Amino acid sequence: MRELFINIKSLVQVRENQTVLKGRAMQELPCIDNAWMLVENGKIKSFGEMSTCPYDVTENHTDCSNRFILPTWVDSHTHLIYSGNREQEFVARIKGKSYEEIANSGGGILNSAKKLQETSEEDLYLQAKQRLEEVIQLGTGAIEIKSGYGLRKEAELKMLRVAQRLKAEYPLPIKVTFLAAHALPNEWKNNKSGYITHVIEDILPEVAKENLADFIDVFCEKGYFDIDDTKRIIEAGKKYNLPAKIHVNQFHAIGGIKLAVEENILSVDHLEVMNEEEFEFLQQASIIPVALPSCSLFLSIPYTPGRKIIDHNLPLALASDYNPGSTPSGNMNLVVALACIKMKLTPEEVINAATLNAAYAMQVENEVGSISQGKKANFILTKKIPSIGFIPYSFGNHQIESVYLKGNKQ
Ligand code: NIG
Ligand code: FE
Repeated sequence: MRELFINIKSLVQVRENQTVLKGRAMQELPCIDNAWMLVENGKIKSFGEMSTCPYDVTENHTDCSNRFILPTWVDSHTHLIYSGNREQEFVARIKGKSYEEIANSGGGILNSAKKLQETSEEDLYLQAKQRLEEVIQLGTGAIEIKSGYGLRKEAELKMLRVAQRLKAEYPLPIKVTFLAAHALPNEWKNNKSGYITHVIEDILPEVAKENLADFIDVFCEKGYFDIDDTKRIIEAGKKYNLPAKIHVNQFHAIGGIKLAVEENILSVDHLEVMNEEEFEFLQQASIIPVALPSCSLFLSIPYTPGRKIIDHNLPLALASDYNPGSTPSGNMNLVVALACIKMKLTPEEVINAATLNAAYAMQVENEVGSISQGKKANFILTKKIPSIGFIPYSFGNHQIESVYLKGNKQ
C-alpha cells in the first residue's frame, strides 16, 4: 500500500530524532510549506517540498491544497473504560455540591466502580469501543487507558482485559495503566494499608503474569492515597517493570511531586495546585508534567500553571483525562484550545505538548508524535484553514477533514 499526498499547505511537526521538548524549545514547530508526503505500508516513507517531489503525481495521490497535515493527537491520560455515566453528579454540582462532597457521600469513583463491577466484560468492551471510535474521529492516534473503576481483583482484571482487546483490535498505539489505587473501596474503609497490600500482593502479580499493563498509577491526594501509599505502589510497580504515571496535586499539594522526583517516575499528571518549590524539584528530574485542562473546565477548578511550568524550562504534555466524573470528553481539539486560552500557551506550544511530548509521556515517541521517516502514518488532514493557529482559535469546533491511522483513512 502506497499513497502520495501532494500540495500540502504545510506539513507540520517535521522532526528527526527528537523526543521531548522543554522550555523555549516548545515554541518551535518545524514545518515544510507546500509539501508532499509518501506513505508506504502504514509508515511515513518520505516527504519534502513540492518542488523536489521525485514521484509521478499521477499515481495514487491525494491533493491537499489549502490543507495542513499534522501528526494525530496523542492522549497520554484517559480513563476511557467505564460503565454508564455520572450525569446526576454533574447536575448535583450545578446545584452547588462540590466534587469532594459528592465523593464523600458515596458518589464519585466508588459510584463508577459499583456500576462497572455489575457490567459484563462484553458490555464494558462495547461501551469503550464506541468512545474509542469517537476520539479517533476527533484526531486521537495514540491513547493511554487506565483501570481504576474495578477496585476489586476481578473487576480490575476485567478492565485491563478490555483495554488489551482494544489494543489488539485498533490500529493505534494503546498503552494500559494499572490504577487499582484510585479510591479506597468501602470493604476496605477501615484498612487503607490492607487495601494497598492487597493491590500489591494479590492483584499486581496477576496483572504482571498476564502482561495486562504497561504502567502503574495511583491517585495521590488528600482523602485518597497519601505519600506512603503512593511510594508503596510506585516501588511495587518497579519490581514488575511498570513505570509510574501518577495523579498528583489535583486538589492539594501533599508532597507527591517530591516523591515522584525521588522515585524518578515517568509522568506527574494534573498539577492544578503547585507549590513554588515543586517547580524546582521537577527541574532535577526527567519527569514529564501532564496538564489536563478539560478536567479544570468541567470541575471549575484551577488550571495547571502550564505557562509557568514551561517558563521554568520544564517539558509539558497535554491530555484529556477522559472519564465519567471529572472529564466526560476525550476531545483533544478542545484540550489544546483550553491550553491556549486558559494557560496562555501558544499554538506552537500546545501542538508540541499534545503530539511529541505526549508521545514521550506514554513511551510511544518512537512510533508517533511527529512527521518523521519510519514513524506510523498516523496523521490529521485538516479542513481548508488559513493557519495552524486556527485549530485552537476555533475552540469548541474541530478543523479535521480526515484522520489517517497507519496510512488508512478512518
Ligand atoms: O483524573 N482524579 C482522579 N481520577 C479522575 C477522576 C475520576 C472520577 O471522578 O471518576 C481524574 O480526574
Ligand atoms: Fe485521571
